[in-house]
Amino acid sequence: MRYVDARHARSWLFTPADRPDRYPARCRPGADAVVLDLEDSVAPGRKDIARHHLARRGPDEIPVWIRVNGRGSAQWRDDLDIVARLPAVAGVMLPKTEHPGDLAATAALLPEGTELIALLETCLGIENAFAIASEPSAVALAFGVADFRRETGLGDAPEAWAYPRSRLVIASRAAGLRGPIDGPALHLDDVTVVQKEAARGREQGFTGKLCLHPAQIAPVNAAFSPDPAHLAWARRVLEQAAGSDGAAIRVDGEMIDRPRLDHARDLVEAAATHTAVHGAPAPS
Ligand code: GLV
Ligand code: MG
Repeated sequence: MRYVDARHARSWLFTPADRPDRYPARCRPGADAVVLDLEDSVAPGRKDIARHHLARRGPDEIPVWIRVNGRGSAQWRDDLDIVARLPAVAGVMLPKTEHPGDLAATAALLPEGTELIALLETCLGIENAFAIASEPSAVALAFGVADFRRETGLGDAPEAWAYPRSRLVIASRAAGLRGPIDGPALHLDDVTVVQKEAARGREQGFTGKLCLHPAQIAPVNAAFSPDPAHLAWARRVLEQAAGSDGAAIRVDGEMIDRPRLDHARDLVEAAATHTAVHGAPAPS
């Protein structure tokens, strides 16, 4: 497998679409997913150039996600005209999503079955999170922290962020999606900030994080993976459960019934997906 599917990708590395020198060709720089951006990392006067570079990608290249401009922007339709004809597209991220109809209208202009990620970054988007997550084309919600901060004026206190963050988690899961993807850490030079943010996001129910720099990938992948001891536990659980015919079992002194067994299965499945793309993690 050459890339991690939308259900399991932890690190989502952004690259401005007007910088083809940074596009991944045959390999990824360790990121689970790459997002080529037509929106806010591309200057307004360079949108045409960015689309032009995207249109030159070949069918053999690694499938990438494309962040188009939001539905309310003058660029949205032009972006989709190009993206609909591109090869090697894993899916489309729609920023400033506020209504389920934004996803439906976007999906209608793309090849059938194109997977969409809704980037929620306004109060209206957060309030409509469950309806948006329930759109058939939605595979995940993501949180646009910088835009949300600008709209609301929230400071850094974690409790100020508890409501929108929890709402994304609950809405995603209620709609049957993976846990949401967290917004990026803006400190590019300080890996400890990424580590702290990613660990907190995982505690809160996020399952991945947008990355703005390759140095953010490793801490994000680590934060959203089980540690080796936990993974070994999950494998032991599955082994012992194989002969139990669905009955509760005892592993390491702990009672394992259905929810714990499903949790163990999720961990092993996710680890297998990541290993298939990146190889086995180096022993620590
Ligand atoms: C991402 O788009 C953000 O606003 O943080
Ligand atoms: Mg944004």
